[in-house]
Amino acid sequence: MSKKIFVTREIPEIGIAMLRSAGHNVTVGTFRKPPTKKEIIKALKSGEYDGVLTLLTDSIDQEVMDSAPSVKIYANYASGFDNLAIAEAQKRGIAVTNAPTNASSLSVAQFAITLMLTLMARITEADRFVKKGKYVGWSATNFVGSGMTGKKLGLIGAGRIGSQLALYAKALGFSVLYFDVKRNEVFEKECGATFCSSLDELLPESDVVSIHVPLLDSTRHLIDEKRLSSMKSSAFLINTSRGAVIDEKALEKALKKSVIAGAGLDVFEFEPKISRGLRKLENVILTPHIASASDSARIEMAKVTAQNIIDYFEGKAPANLVS
Ligand code: GLV
Repeated sequence: MSKKIFVTREIPEIGIAMLRSAGHNVTVGTFRKPPTKKEIIKALKSGEYDGVLTLLTDSIDQEVMDSAPSVKIYANYASGFDNLAIAEAQKRGIAVTNAPTNASSLSVAQFAITLMLTLMARITEADRFVKKGKYVGWSATNFVGSGMTGKKLGLIGAGRIGSQLALYAKALGFSVLYFDVKRNEVFEKECGATFCSSLDELLPESDVVSIHVPLLDSTRHLIDEKRLSSMKSSAFLINTSRGAVIDEKALEKALKKSVIAGAGLDVFEFEPKISRGLRKLENVILTPHIASASDSARIEMAKVTAQNIIDYFEGKAPANLVS
């Protein structure tokens, strides 16, 4: 049966085409930038929609759900789902799905290793130096970076992305430590990874720390001032998960005071706002939440998100139900 579906903002056309060929009536929002909650409420009120395809920037809370009682499913175009009030949806019997795909896990792991290598080889600093016309001749002391062989990568979270990153890092000569709420002995065997039972064990040992956990109450500010100060002063911190896993003010202070050597950040605590202080630092690489933005990942995510909606309205359990 045809349902009214609202897609908050443009996604790859394949997802829209799938919904339409399953017989649904699809409206795509025309917002140029992430809509505010007020704008989402206004759009949903105008349409009596049955389902909504949301992006990770759409904040869907109790107030939005109250304003759109006809909506039976929110299908998030993202692996993460911290933008949706899951407990509230559960209470109301509203389905919520996410879109974890192999292609996006690969894309994020590849992006994380790229941030690591770029920081360690000081590529962005050197690029700025050359473009400013400062290169006057080769020198043995110019932009000496950190070698990788024999270094330790500390993974916070060894799920699909973390374990893929471990394989890449191992090929480059890193040894791998990991902390996760669940010990994974298969992963340990495959990567020769060493389990740490706490962050207090992992952080002082690691030369690079990479974060791969969802944003939950228990992971908010997991990396705070105290934990930053337990890291090596030569260490790098990589975050491609969610910004608020790090206390960003504390990180800015730590970077300014050389408590750690540098950071590669694709996500920010108050996204898209990034403090001027952080933006001015030489020892950070900042990218606009694009770790999963490979061509194949974006297309897979569109297909998976559309399929979740199609399955739901055909009475089948969507593959990626989170509520
Ligand atoms: C990207 O951040 C995602 O959650 O897919």
